[in-house]
Amino acid sequence: MNGGAGASVEPRCVDFPVKSVILLLEVPVLYLYCRGQMPKTSWGLRPTPLLWLGLIFTAGMIYWFLSFDHFREKHMPPSPVGAKSLPDPFMESPELRALLQLLHWPAPPEDAVAFASSTSAEKSHYRLLQSQSNYTVGNMLLVSLEARDQRGQPKHYGGDFLRAKLHSPELKASVAGTVEDHKNGTYTLTFPLLWAGAVQVSVRLIYSSETVALLRRIRDSHPSTVTFRGYFVDPGQGSKEEVTECNVHPVSGPTCQYVDPGTGEHWFCARPQHHSCNDLVYHSTGIYKNVLSSAEKVFLSGAAAERIIPGSVPIIQVLPSHQLTVATSPPLPCHPGLALTNPSGFYYKDVWVSLGCSSRTFPTSDLALSCLRGKIVHMIGDSTLRQWWEFLLAFIPSVKHIDLHVTYKSGPLLAVEPAQGLVLRWRSHGVPLRTGKSKMADIHYLANELHALGGGPDMVVVFTLGVHFITFPVHVYVRRVHSIRQAVAQLLARSPQTTIVIKSANTGYTVYGSDWLSLQLDNILRAMFAGMKVAIVDAWAMTSCHYLPENIHPGKVIVQNEVNSFLSYVCPGK
Ligand SMILES: *[C@@H]1O[C@H](CO)[C@@H](O)[C@H](O)[C@H]1NC(C)=O
Ligand SMILES: *[C@@H]1O[C@H](CO)[C@@H](O)[C@H](O)[C@H]1NC(C)=O
Repeated sequence: MNGGAGASVEPRCVDFPVKSVILLLEVPVLYLYCRGQMPKTSWGLRPTPLLWLGLIFTAGMIYWFLSFDHFREKHMPPSPVGAKSLPDPFMESPELRALLQLLHWPAPPEDAVAFASSTSAEKSHYRLLQSQSNYTVGNMLLVSLEARDQRGQPKHYGGDFLRAKLHSPELKASVAGTVEDHKNGTYTLTFPLLWAGAVQVSVRLIYSSETVALLRRIRDSHPSTVTFRGYFVDPGQGSKEEVTECNVHPVSGPTCQYVDPGTGEHWFCARPQHHSCNDLVYHSTGIYKNVLSSAEKVFLSGAAAERIIPGSVPIIQVLPSHQLTVATSPPLPCHPGLALTNPSGFYYKDVWVSLGCSSRTFPTSDLALSCLRGKIVHMIGDSTLRQWWEFLLAFIPSVKHIDLHVTYKSGPLLAVEPAQGLVLRWRSHGVPLRTGKSKMADIHYLANELHALGGGPDMVVVFTLGVHFITFPVHVYVRRVHSIRQAVAQLLARSPQTTIVIKSANTGYTVYGSDWLSLQLDNILRAMFAGMKVAIVDAWAMTSCHYLPENIHPGKVIVQNEVNSFLSYVCPGK
């Protein structure tokens, strides 16, 4: 569960009563001594205060060590007191407060709004804000949207989660629109006109503001909305495998607590009856908790979520501007540290064109391979990043998969191209991780993996982190990203030439309405890495405006564009 440094997981059962007893004993002893009532020793001298302190301390330590092993297997009722993680200055820092501000989202005035008063996509409407006699490449298109509730009444507050795009289906061209919430039930949508041709607007209500409020309330009021399984095995004993519930917080009853020495991250499993905490060998996903009442489920049902909003914006013919029929990337080579533009890019003929740097395409396997020649690529994250690994494996025929005989869904996975010296690794980030039954020791915390890398000009590190964290309060994610950021900063300090790329979250996950939850985490991720020498592949933008149906595992053409964007940072060219 911890890093590549090879240290093993330290299971620790909570031993608070023992420590408290020692502390409680020490206090009156010290008090008596200070009052001068300490008994004299047999040779009639009062020992110096320092000696006494030393003796008390030593006795306390010996007792502590002895009692630890003694208690933990026999009498210890591990208590949920372990829920308090180690004091972490970051969790009280101004930065964290600023990050939480970033999550601000307009909310309905009351907590419980009847479904009939929630925003209806079908009853809402949008129109052109101001029409021009003609439109050319480089102009902006402004659209005004009025939200209405299920009864058709205008809404008077904002917070609807909208997704808007401008697109030309025949050209396979599209760009995401910017949504401005006026917080009075109206929204202004802005679309840059980036190519000539017939363009149309498409707007969807992903979740009403009432649904967003519900998602937020669930996120903030449950320590988790999923569970995991821990499998306890002791082959030496020949005993049967025991399975208990595990999570990022203590589960009810006696608990095994696992503290990762590298990151300080905690993991908890219900204590097995016939095994010790050390016998935790496998991990897998558990269940999705049923946290929604039937009245609440309506808000997330297909009839209410991800619905098309009707509009009266006609198909618009965009004219070229001074012979320019399509916007191009700026000549600036892509490099880590570049801030993303808004929008960060657009699709034209199914190719993503970055508006921040000179994005390249790698249409043939030879081009991709020559970019990756001699590179050691470490991909660490979730299945959306495994798609990159799978894409490169399929795209470059000479890249071969080496079977490491692990659970495929959590890895680690290895592919090599020996002739060109290319190594492609993928592995999952640490728990929490929804995956098939996998060896716990194969699942490493991301920061530990980074700590174990020497880095260098031939090393490329790409990671992603998000969709496995939407089922917990935000601080779980913030704490994790904080440790990763530290590891990134240290890696860049010891090896500044290492290329580090972050794949942002992508859209298309529907469990518990996660696109809004994913976006919140993604905003945190971007903010926490702002100003650092890392590149961000804006998968969010690439998935939110494409014509393929939303899918947490996007289709091949999108993955190819994500990989091209990634390779543009690895091989900026020119
Ligand atoms: C576009 O509209 C402007 C005025 O808004 C006009 O001067 C110009 O001639 C028009 N161009 C075309 C090609 O219609
Ligand atoms: C909502 O707010 C916007 C921006 O302040 C304003 O232009 C618009 O008139 C308001 N609309 C309504 C219906 O209050």
